[in-house]
Amino acid sequence: MYEEELNEVKQKCLSCKKCPLSETRTTVVFSGGIPNSKLMLIGEAPGYWEDQKGEPFVGKAGQLLDKIFASVGLSRQKDVYICNTIKCRPPENRNPLPEEKDACREFLDAQIRILHPKIILLAGSVAVQSILGDIGGITRIRGKWFDGEAYGLPDTKIMPIFHPSYLLRNDSREKGSPKWLMWQDIQEIRKAYDNL
Ligand code: URA
Repeated sequence: MYEEELNEVKQKCLSCKKCPLSETRTTVVFSGGIPNSKLMLIGEAPGYWEDQKGEPFVGKAGQLLDKIFASVGLSRQKDVYICNTIKCRPPENRNPLPEEKDACREFLDAQIRILHPKIILLAGSVAVQSILGDIGGITRIRGKWFDGEAYGLPDTKIMPIFHPSYLLRNDSREKGSPKWLMWQDIQEIRKAYDNL
């Protein structure tokens, strides 16, 4: 039963003290959305609001993410499982350190292994680096499908996408702009989701 196994991992994660972020966090942000989903989104790390509320992507970037999903009729309430590469907020929202990512890796790996999603979206370069390694800048690889087989994830398609925080800093909707590209990507994702 995946629920039991996932819950065991979650309980372990909620009391984790493997890295110093456990001393500065308010809450552990394990996941959001629905576990029995074919679609998983992996972000970077909890920010201020996520740390306060214990739920991923609930700040401004999260609100934009919800709008992006809603634009193609998807939602975290019925379609998507959401998590981050690390589960505790780094102070001042700095990038996660390699040792923090290493310490937290077992939880992300367990989420992927237990839920075995058919589609994984990697939001931003930190998530891309964690799963696909150094394969180039997000601008070049976003919107491309990667075969999970090569990364030990058979039957999973993986797509890097822009992080919603990046879109918040780039407001243009002109053809070729990051927001415009995200619109192309989310439509492609919807198509793949419909074809599962
Ligand atoms: N940014 C992320 O990458 N993850 C969150 O949960 C919130 C903001």
